[in-house]
Amino acid sequence: MIGAMMVTVITPFLLGAIFYDLIWHIGNTYVAAIIYMVLGPAFIGGLVLVFLGLFFFKGREEVRLFTLEYLRDYFNDPSKFSKMRKLVFFAVFLSCINLFVMGLLAYRGYHYMESVGFCGQFCHTVMNPEHTAYSNSPHSRVACVECHIGAGATWFVKSKISGARQLFAVALDTYPRPIQVPVHGLRPARETCEECHRPEKFHGEKLVVRDKFREDEANTHVQTVLLMKIGSAGDRAKSSHGIHWHVAPENRITYKASDHSRMVIPEVTLHKQDGTQVVFRSDDADDLLAEAGEHGEVREMDCIDCHNRPTHIYLPADVAVDNKILSGEIAQELPFIKKMAMEVVTREYASQEEAKSAIATDLNNYYQKNYPDLVQQKQAVLERSIAAVQAAYAENVFPEMNIKWGTYTNHIGHMEDGGCFRCHDESHESPGGEVVSQDCDTCHTILAEEEENPEVLDLLRGQ
Ligand code: HEC
Ligand code: HEC
Ligand code: HEC
Ligand code: HEC
Ligand code: HEC
Repeated sequence: MIGAMMVTVITPFLLGAIFYDLIWHIGNTYVAAIIYMVLGPAFIGGLVLVFLGLFFFKGREEVRLFTLEYLRDYFNDPSKFSKMRKLVFFAVFLSCINLFVMGLLAYRGYHYMESVGFCGQFCHTVMNPEHTAYSNSPHSRVACVECHIGAGATWFVKSKISGARQLFAVALDTYPRPIQVPVHGLRPARETCEECHRPEKFHGEKLVVRDKFREDEANTHVQTVLLMKIGSAGDRAKSSHGIHWHVAPENRITYKASDHSRMVIPEVTLHKQDGTQVVFRSDDADDLLAEAGEHGEVREMDCIDCHNRPTHIYLPADVAVDNKILSGEIAQELPFIKKMAMEVVTREYASQEEAKSAIATDLNNYYQKNYPDLVQQKQAVLERSIAAVQAAYAENVFPEMNIKWGTYTNHIGHMEDGGCFRCHDESHESPGGEVVSQDCDTCHTILAEEEENPEVLDLLRGQ
C-alpha cells in the first residue's frame, strides 16, 4: 500500500519534471539532483515495495482460496469476464506507464550523471578549481566524461565505482587538498583524445605568438614568436617527424619515473618496430631508481605526458596577468599596472574573498597615492582593471583547495619545472652515445624573443 501510494504521488511530478528537463533543460545541478537522485530512486523504491508486498503477502489460507474461487468464477462466467478484462487491461496499462517512466528515468538519469554540471558543480568546493580552469580552456565545450571516461562499458563501470568512492571521501571529508596529480587511474589518453584528434593527420609547423608586458611604467608590450614543429605521427607516405613523432605507432616510448609525480625520469626506452630498443639513461639513473624502489613507475608515454593540462590550465601569475592586459580587461594605459598586479596577486591570502578585497584596496590605495589625477579622470577604467586583476587571481588560485600559483605545473614547454626537459636534457644517453636532444631547434625555431614589434611579424603581414 505504501509503495502504491509513493508511486501514485511521485509519478506525475517525476514525469512533469523529466519532460520539463527534456524540453527546456534544467540548468541547476541541484534541482536536477532532486529529480534523478531523490524522486527517481523513490519511484523505483515504491515499485519494489509493491512487488515485495505482493510476494511476501501472508494472508490467511481462506483468503487465498477465496481469491482463487473468485477469480475462477470471473473467468468462467462470460458476463463477469468482460468486467475482469477491463481490470487486466488497466493493470497492463499501468505497467506500461511504469515501464515508460523507468525508461525515461534511466535515459535522462544517465545523461544527468554524465553532465558537466554533475561532474563539475555538484561537489562545489572540491571541483571548483577544475571546473573554473576548464571553463576558460579550449575544451570548455567538451564534456568531462569525454576525457575522463570515454566510450565503452568497462570504463563507465570503473568510473562509477571510483565515483562512489569519491562521494564517500567528500561526505567524510577525507579527500586530499589539492587533489593529487598525475591521476594514476586515468584512462590511457590515446583512447580518449584520439576520439577527436588524429596526430597522424597533423602537418607542418605552427606559429605561436606569446604576448607579454614588461613591469615598467608603460607596461611595454613584447612578443615571443616561435615556429613549433608540430610534426605528425606519420600517415601513408608521410613518415613520423617532429613533436608528434612520440605518438607514431612505430615509436613506442616507455619510461621509468623515480617519483610519484613523474617529475624525475631517469630512464627512457624507445621500442622500435624491428624489435630493437634504445635505452637512454641519465648519469644518476642507478641511484635514483634504487632509491625510488617500488615508488618508481614504468609508464608508456602518451598524450598527457606532454598535454597534462589540456583543459585544467592553471596559468602562472605573469601569464594570467599578461592575458588580461592583452584582452584589454586590464588597461595597459594604467602606469605600472603589470608590476602592481603581479605584486598583489602573488601575495598569500586565506580565501578568494580575502584576496578580492585586499587586491581592490591595495590597487586603489596605490593609484590614489601616486596618480590621484588619473583616479579622478579614469575611475571606470581603474575599476574595470581591478576587477580583471581579481579575476586573474580567482581563475587560478584556490586557497580552499590549497591550490597556489604553480601547484599544478604544465608539461608543455620547459618554462615551469620539468616539461620536455625531463627527458630532453642532454644527460639521457644511450649505450651508443646518442642523447635525447636539447638542441633549441629540435622542437621550435625561435623567431623572436621578448621583442617589441618583432620584425618577423611585420614580414609575415607583408608590411
Ligand atoms: C580535454 C580533456 C579533459 C576534459 C574535458 C576534462 N578533463 Fe579533467 N583532466 C584531464 C587530464 C588529462 C587530467 C590529468 C592531469 C594529470 O594527470 O596531470 C585531468 C585531471 C583532472 C582532475 C585532477 C586534478 C587536476 O586538476 O589535475 C580532476 C579533479 C578533473 N580532471 C576533473 C574534471 C572535471 C570535473 C571536468 C569537467 C568539468 C574535467 N575534468 C574535464 C582531462 C580532461
Ligand atoms: C570531444 C572531442 C575532444 C576530445 C575528447 C579532446 N579534444 Fe582536444 N580539442 C577539441 C576541439 C574541438 C579543440 C579546438 C578548440 C578550439 O580551437 O576552440 C581542441 C583543441 C585541442 C588542443 C589545442 C589547444 C589550443 O591551445 O589551441 C590540444 C593541444 C588538444 N585539444 C589536446 C587534447 C588532449 C591531450 C586530449 C585528451 C586528454 C583532447 N584534446 C581531447 C576536441 C577534443
Ligand atoms: C612530446 C610531447 C607531446 C606528445 C606526446 C603529444 N603532443 Fe600534442 N603537442 C605538443 C606540443 C609541444 C604542441 C604545440 C603546443 C603549442 O601550441 O605551443 C602540441 C600540439 C597539439 C595540438 C594542436 C595542434 C595544432 O596544430 O594546433 C593537438 C590537437 C595535440 N597536440 C594533440 C595531441 C594528442 C591527441 C596527442 C596524443 C595522441 C599528443 N598531442 C601527443 C606536444 C605533444
Ligand atoms: C619521456 C621522455 C620524453 C619527454 C617527456 C619528451 N620527449 Fe621528445 N623525445 C624523447 C625521445 C626518447 C626521443 C628520441 C631521441 C632520439 O632519437 O634522439 C625524442 C625525440 C623528440 C623529437 C625529435 C623527433 C624526430 O623527428 O626524430 C622532438 C621534436 C621532441 N622529442 C619534442 C619533444 C617535446 C616538444 C617535448 C615536450 C612537450 C618532449 N619531446 C618531451 C623522449 C621524450
Ligand atoms: C624538447 C623540445 C624543446 C627543446 C629542446 C627546446 N624547447 Fe623551447 N619550447 C618547447 C615548447 C614545447 C615550448 C612551449 C611553446 C608554447 O608555449 O606553446 C617552448 C617554449 C620556448 C620559449 C617561449 C617561452 C615563453 O612562453 O616565453 C622559449 C623562449 C624557448 N622555448 C627557448 C628555448 C631555448 C633557448 C632552447 C634551447 C636551450 C629550447 N627552447 C629548447 C620545446 C622545446
